[in-house]
Amino acid sequence: MFTPTYARITERLSAEGSDVWAVHERALKMQRNGDDVILLSVGDPDFRTPEPIIDNAVSHLRVGRTHYSPSLGEIKLRRAVADLETQSSPHPCTADEVAIFPGATSAIHAVLSCLLNPGDEIVVPEPMYVGYNPIFRGLDLNLRTTPLDVEHDFALNVETLKSTLSDKTRVLFINTPGNPTGAIIPASDIRELAAYCLEKNIWLVCDEVYSMFCYEGKHMSARASAECLDNVVMIDGLSKSHAMSGWRIGWVVAPPTLIERLGEYAGATLFGSPQFIQDASAFALENDQQYVKEMRNEYRERRDYMLDKLSKVKNLHCSRPHAGMFIMCDVSRTGLSGRQFADQLLEQQGVSVIPGAAFGPSAENFVRLGLAQNRSVLKRACKRIKHFCASL
Ligand SMILES: Cc1ncc(COP(=O)(O)O)c(C=O)c1O
Repeated sequence: MFTPTYARITERLSAEGSDVWAVHERALKMQRNGDDVILLSVGDPDFRTPEPIIDNAVSHLRVGRTHYSPSLGEIKLRRAVADLETQSSPHPCTADEVAIFPGATSAIHAVLSCLLNPGDEIVVPEPMYVGYNPIFRGLDLNLRTTPLDVEHDFALNVETLKSTLSDKTRVLFINTPGNPTGAIIPASDIRELAAYCLEKNIWLVCDEVYSMFCYEGKHMSARASAECLDNVVMIDGLSKSHAMSGWRIGWVVAPPTLIERLGEYAGATLFGSPQFIQDASAFALENDQQYVKEMRNEYRERRDYMLDKLSKVKNLHCSRPHAGMFIMCDVSRTGLSGRQFADQLLEQQGVSVIPGAAFGPSAENFVRLGLAQNRSVLKRACKRIKHFCASL
């Protein structure tokens, strides 16, 4: 009889913090059973992909753009990404510095696969995006986290972060604007970190998928902020900015020597992304001013609405996100942990939020509320949250 054996990576992946999505999954089950549940636990934009992008993809499908494509991506899309970066940076960027991947998740996995060996140390500030841990575990990395400044809207403290880096650190991984925090790391801090990492022979990798949704302050990419680019890698994509999460387009901007290695990696694992999707993505980047602006304005208004309503709810205290699609809400004065709050809010009022502990220990008194719902849904959610808090 055949006894199946599996690679250790499958054990590491299944060991991954199983209850991260527990509340969200319970909410989905309740919804399937017909309960009236409001999901504030999702990070998938509720907007439709703008119609001109869809039309562009369809027209490319019709003319036969349905074949294999280069491992590093179609040159037109690589150039569009390079142009975008050049416009917002003192350093000109060329297509040689760009690699296309099916989404930022895949780009992060590829970058870390090309930079790190199993057991290598990676330092990440927390709370951090829940999608990172499975990647770190899969690659068997030695993760060290360092808390963001919870008291000051999750600001990053450069000195604390520097003191966390050790002789063994190979990568410092940061995320700006942050999920779940909505904090923007100032360009001067990124510049200082990049220079410090360069001196210590550490790569600085920066995930910037919320770059186009800044409400106050300005996002400066890691590449635009750093003086020397030798150790700087940035990752971005279209999932959030263009409501294209299902199209799976992300990219890496990095020194050409890393891009070459990423090409070999992508050749072995992906063998190119669909042509018509890359065509429509290049079109999206070149013609996006109006609809990105409209979506950004709508998220900003939702944020302001939620902050206003929740500021009047007893015992809640929300941090003010400067960017992104989420609000972090401190629930400690209710006497509940973030997890208890999320569990009971779902049970009693049918509103699903993510417990802060899913993002790291420093956020365990928080819950994360998503803004990917229209304002009438958010209005109902705020009413229910208010009732719940009043009942405690
Ligand atoms: C910080 C962050 N990085 C990466 C991703 C994943 O992006 P993609 O859809 O491009 O894989 C997300 C999705 O929520 C995210 O919040």
